[in-house]
Amino acid sequence: MAILSIDQGTTGTTCMIYDRSGNVLARAYRELTQCYPQAGWVEHDPKEIWQTVVECVVEVRGAYSGHIEAIGITNQRETTVVWDRRNGEPVHRAIVWQCRRTAELCNRYRGEEAAIRAKTGLPVDAYFSATKIRWILDAHPEADPSNLLFGTIDTWLIWKLTGGEVHATDLTNASRTLLFDIHERRWDAELCELFGVPLSMLPEVRPSMGGFGAVRAIPELDGVPIAGVAGDQQAALFGQCCFESGSVKNTYGTGCFMVMNTGDKCVSSSHGLLTTLALDGAGRSCYAVEGSVFIGGAVMQWLRDGLQLIGSAAESEAIARSVESNGGVYVVPAFVGLGAPHWNMEVRGTITGLTRGSSRVHIVRAALESIAYQSHDVFRAMVADTGIQPQSLTVDGGAVSNEFLMQFQADLLGVPVHRPRNIESTALGAACLAGLEAGVWNSADELRALNGVERVFTPAMPEAERETLLAGWQKALRQTLVS
Ligand code: G3P
Repeated sequence: MAILSIDQGTTGTTCMIYDRSGNVLARAYRELTQCYPQAGWVEHDPKEIWQTVVECVVEVRGAYSGHIEAIGITNQRETTVVWDRRNGEPVHRAIVWQCRRTAELCNRYRGEEAAIRAKTGLPVDAYFSATKIRWILDAHPEADPSNLLFGTIDTWLIWKLTGGEVHATDLTNASRTLLFDIHERRWDAELCELFGVPLSMLPEVRPSMGGFGAVRAIPELDGVPIAGVAGDQQAALFGQCCFESGSVKNTYGTGCFMVMNTGDKCVSSSHGLLTTLALDGAGRSCYAVEGSVFIGGAVMQWLRDGLQLIGSAAESEAIARSVESNGGVYVVPAFVGLGAPHWNMEVRGTITGLTRGSSRVHIVRAALESIAYQSHDVFRAMVADTGIQPQSLTVDGGAVSNEFLMQFQADLLGVPVHRPRNIESTALGAACLAGLEAGVWNSADELRALNGVERVFTPAMPEAERETLLAGWQKALRQTLVS
């Protein structure tokens, strides 16, 4: 009994096949071309996205040709595709979640922001899909909207995989569009009217666990049902078995995405977090709060490619450990503005506290530390918003292999950081959803058994040192925000 999971992320597509014990039977990865047509604009080619999925599927089926019970799909969220229903041709390249092109357009809706947030749980920001759809419609007046379909990447892939039979999304992806009422669990006609998005373009919204049609377009998977779909951060939360209210995970990828399950309580944030839909242990929808940090692991790429201070991200750990402290140096990596909890689109990055004694080593250490400081700020906002003090933080994503970073994170938060054996929680989460639906697994306990804790990082830093470091970070942030 095997499950195939497709994880279509911002930087690339991963495809995994898992057996019933959660072992990886096959894995394939394809990188995705990033298009930057103007400063602050980010696009992907939807056909290339589909092509990477086909290539990954063919590769893993080459490695494992046994029976596949079901498919799970997880995806970069908010990224927007609009295509012609008659021939499947995208009318524009996909506008990626990071793209800031609609920042100005968002200002038109400031007057309605409170009402929009009350329905959707989201602030009005270029991050979400609604203004991206509006932008595409405005840029293509020649396209008749009655022929057009909208989808986030899950919807695009479901439509392609089923040969155009199914135009659907799941609740977690719908909750990131600014068009979806997270209380009523349906598209909101008033919001569609406000953003000028015809309801006829929108996909049917289905529960994350359940039927999304069967594959018709790839012979290697012909007839296999798509049985689970979730946005990548919600899939990671599920893959980390954060099923109970108050459980929280942080994914360290390009950005950092911290999500706390709040069960059936819809927490409205007053500390810069988003309210969103996630999944409970039975794969049913529940509420969550989320803090999205735009630059996390990407700060390492900047050290490597931009400043050329390191040869590889892996080197940063030894460099950071080669000094006793950051030497008073702080990096605030606001390269594309700051996300949660600040939501400031204009601010840009800074390095503060430089002296004649500061060296490359201090900058590398400060850059690494910035990932943990930003995550700390989101964690504190979550505690303030929910009144819940989590007893631990579960982590996943590429950067969690950096043990300096994990220990520093535990020290700053004052709670243990739990690193699982399988750090690719996103793909695992989608597989768990599909496998639960297909009867490969039958309970939350069976899912818990798939992925135990590999290492716990216990807080060890003296309180006074922690306070001093955090005060230094707050000062650096203030300097950044006024610059
Ligand atoms: O909200 C954006 C998020 O879903 C992107 O995640 O892992 O593709 O960078 P990732």
